[in-house]
Amino acid sequence: MAEQQGYGLLKGKKGIIFGALDERSIAWRIALACQREGAEFALSNAPVALRLGALDDLAEKTGASVYPCDVSKEDEVEDLMQKVKDEYGKIDFMLHAIGMSPNIRKNKEYKELNYHWYQQTLDISAVSLHKILHFAEKKEILNDGSSIVALSYIGAQRIFSKYSDMNDAKALLESIARNYASRLADRGIRVNTVSQAPTQTSAGSGIKGFDGMYTFADKLAPMGNPSADECADYCVTLFSDLTRKVTMQNLYHDGGFVNAGVNEEMIEGLAKLYGGENEDE
Ligand SMILES: NC(=O)c1ccc[n+]([C@@H]2O[C@H](COP(=O)([O-])OP(=O)(O)OC[C@H]3O[C@@H](n4cnc5c(N)ncnc54)[C@H](O)[C@@H]3O)[C@@H](O)[C@H]2O)c1
Repeated sequence: MAEQQGYGLLKGKKGIIFGALDERSIAWRIALACQREGAEFALSNAPVALRLGALDDLAEKTGASVYPCDVSKEDEVEDLMQKVKDEYGKIDFMLHAIGMSPNIRKNKEYKELNYHWYQQTLDISAVSLHKILHFAEKKEILNDGSSIVALSYIGAQRIFSKYSDMNDAKALLESIARNYASRLADRGIRVNTVSQAPTQTSAGSGIKGFDGMYTFADKLAPMGNPSADECADYCVTLFSDLTRKVTMQNLYHDGGFVNAGVNEEMIEGLAKLYGGENEDE
């Protein structure tokens, strides 16, 4: 693919990007797009993820500093905000691209959830958004007019059985985004969630049945599933000054899936599968 040209949308802006693991990560693609648009940023991920080593490549490519931080630990989040402030000064955007469910990883069905793991799912995937906002405020690192984006999934509104307790985590994440956004609005600080279509990443492919979910969404969405790079372009607009009054929103980035019912191709496919059971002879 030809190298995309930047528009300088984030020139002079600084930020923190949470959740880039490897080059398929949505956060990784967002980091590259932010760099293309002129931003400077710090990268952060859990210490265990950093040990895989891939993030060093991204840091080198983008000139970013890397800060280990397990977002389930308050002291680590507080420490991270202080360190980023010491190096970068005040910042203008944060990306929350963090999700993890031990229950899904260990194949625990929803009705049989391990409650300790359930707490971890909610804590890491949702409450962490509250935590990073809380400590960013406490350390006075956010400029007025900043923009915070967290990545969500339509499982927050509709049940996708294989998404299990992550459906609950995303509902909580979206609620925290709205709730916090209402309290930061007087400083012009926006908080939104972007509800991205299924995307082939490490977290995505870790879900049993992911390929089916991916294909279903791709077939149903009139524009098909958007890629991680397309998600990155959208997030750039939300970090930019072009969206200054967009806040408390859950914004679908899904090729139209959220409003699609069924299409001809799927009707034909279903008729073949079920043998036209109810069709008139
Ligand atoms: N892939 C998809 O189909 C899809 C669709 C919609 C939304 N999303 C969301 O996008 C976000 C990014 O996921 P991705 O698909 O790029 O996968 P990914 O695996 O690349 O990213 C998930 C990240 O969360 C990090 N993480 C896990 N536990 C952590 C902790 N305790 N502290 C700090 N970081 C921790 C991981 O190290 C990893 O970098 C997630 O919120 C995910 O739910 C993904």
